[in-house]
Amino acid sequence: MNINENFLKLEDSYLFSTIAKKVTKYQNENPDKKIIRLGIGDVTKPIVPAVINAMNKAINEMGTAEGFRGYGPEQGYVFLRNKIVENDYQNLGIEADEIFVSDGAKCDCGNIVDIMGNDNKIAITNPVYPVYVDTNVMAGRKENIIYLDALEENNFIPQLPDQKVDIIYLCFPNNPTGVGITRKELKRFVDYAKENKAIIFYDAAYEAFITEEDIPHSIYEIEGAKDVAIEFKSFSKSAGFTGLRCAYVVVPKSVFGYDKQGEKVSLNKLWNRRTTTKFNGVSYVIQRAAEATYSEEGKIQLKNNIDYYLENASIIKDGLKNIGFTVYGGVNSPYIWLKTPNNMKSWDFFDLLLEKADVVGTPGVGFGSCGEFFFRLTAFGTKENSLEAIDRIEKANIL
Ligand code: MLT
Repeated sequence: MNINENFLKLEDSYLFSTIAKKVTKYQNENPDKKIIRLGIGDVTKPIVPAVINAMNKAINEMGTAEGFRGYGPEQGYVFLRNKIVENDYQNLGIEADEIFVSDGAKCDCGNIVDIMGNDNKIAITNPVYPVYVDTNVMAGRKENIIYLDALEENNFIPQLPDQKVDIIYLCFPNNPTGVGITRKELKRFVDYAKENKAIIFYDAAYEAFITEEDIPHSIYEIEGAKDVAIEFKSFSKSAGFTGLRCAYVVVPKSVFGYDKQGEKVSLNKLWNRRTTTKFNGVSYVIQRAAEATYSEEGKIQLKNNIDYYLENASIIKDGLKNIGFTVYGGVNSPYIWLKTPNNMKSWDFFDLLLEKADVVGTPGVGFGSCGEFFFRLTAFGTKENSLEAIDRIEKANIL
């Protein structure tokens, strides 16, 4: 067969795979070193009891003739879609048939390219979660991407596109910079989308970490967004489901694309068609687990975990500041974005930190050219490791 040559336009290896390979090599060469991993944003707290209980119950149901379930609805069980609407979209006018339950926001952000026309012009922020860029490159749209630079002088909030684009990817609270966007700033993007018949793909995977009042929890808090935005949400970071796998996409029925004749086409309908063809739904047990995150006890237990990670974020942020680093994020987000010292390239800083402090982070340039001279640390480790990492960085004397 001939291959999809677009794959040849990608970097050889996905960012987090490259880091994992480097760290494994370093560990093999230095078997006695206790490495602290603050690279990939993977959670460390165990699944909370409310969720474990719900899963156990669902597993037992599956072993009975009455409780057994085979294929479920591709879009997700109604019990979960209703809970999502009641809890995450209260008063925002989103309905259950606009929610599509899935096995991860990474997959959703990648799969959404299926319903996009090939000639769309796409705006992607820089730096950015690499999945948006790579999946568009795979689909043959490398040349269609323009970058919206998220710069330090604008507090990493990008400017609007200076030309007409059809799709804008936004992620807030942002991965990797850790900054939130205010309602006022986000409204500019929604207004742009309305004026330009563009669609916003809004990745809100880190919404649970928002602590400030003026930061929206959903793009649908912004007037008009229901006509122009698709939102991606995940249980990975909010409920520690990185290993369980559950997420959802919101595709309002009021969001339309256009065919070649300029006729409006419902994106909800297209996404439903894609989902029913390519997906057989998330397992019943996991959907019951996700449902339990909305129970009264589940909410309390999860809030404790979020607070724990946010405390790690301030330990890391304040610790770095005290050492003398310039630091961003970490207030509405589990990510801390630091400026490398003396304009050091971010991969050089990665090596230095690993060798001098045995701490792993993520080089900013891995998220795009504007991430050069920056570095990301995650607050998803343990409190002990967060404290220890700061101590080691201070002792390493790298400033
Ligand atoms: C990250 O570290 O950027 C995330 O964990 C990656 C992901 O969610 O896929």
